[in-house]
Amino acid sequence: MTKRIALCAVIMLAGLGVARADGLDPIAVRQAGFSLQNGDFAFIRSVVAAKGDVKPLEVPARAVAKWAAVIPSMFPKGTETGGDTKALPEIWSDPAGFQKIALALGEAATKLATDAKTGDADVVAADMKLVGEQCGACHKAYRAK
Ligand code: HEC
Repeated sequence: MTKRIALCAVIMLAGLGVARADGLDPIAVRQAGFSLQNGDFAFIRSVVAAKGDVKPLEVPARAVAKWAAVIPSMFPKGTETGGDTKALPEIWSDPAGFQKIALALGEAATKLATDAKTGDADVVAADMKLVGEQCGACHKAYRAK
């Protein structure tokens, strides 16, 4: 039994090695995720600025919330350097602070998604401001210029 478990562990670890060897690059993946999130947020901003219908903003806001939920897992040990990462060492020395802002982003984006459904543009504009503040706060503390 113990031997079996050990064998499973070895196979799983080997599997992880294969995933990396196959070209899964965590730094490129997270940068792609942030770029997509940036697109979603830019769309939200443009609709609010144009005083458009805020109802469709539920969709990009939900996407931002989903991404926020996985941000902390996008910075595993071993990805402190490499590629052209702008991640600062504080992400790993202060994981609680980093997670706190990711959580706040998720909450703000979820609120925006919920409020978008009501069609109230003023409430959504205030939500948007709160979302943007989380982007800024995290970049200031955890991302190099
Ligand atoms: C909890 C922290 C955190 C939050 C919240 C956050 N970011 Fe970032 N963001 C980062 C870090 C760290 C990087 C650098 C990643 C790297 O280079 O490895 C980054 C990178 C980026 C990039 C550059 C991607 C690339 O192509 O290299 C963009 C654009 C971006 N973020 C937009 C946003 C927007 C828009 C929001 C809010 C809706 C946001 N971020 C919220 C931490 C955060």
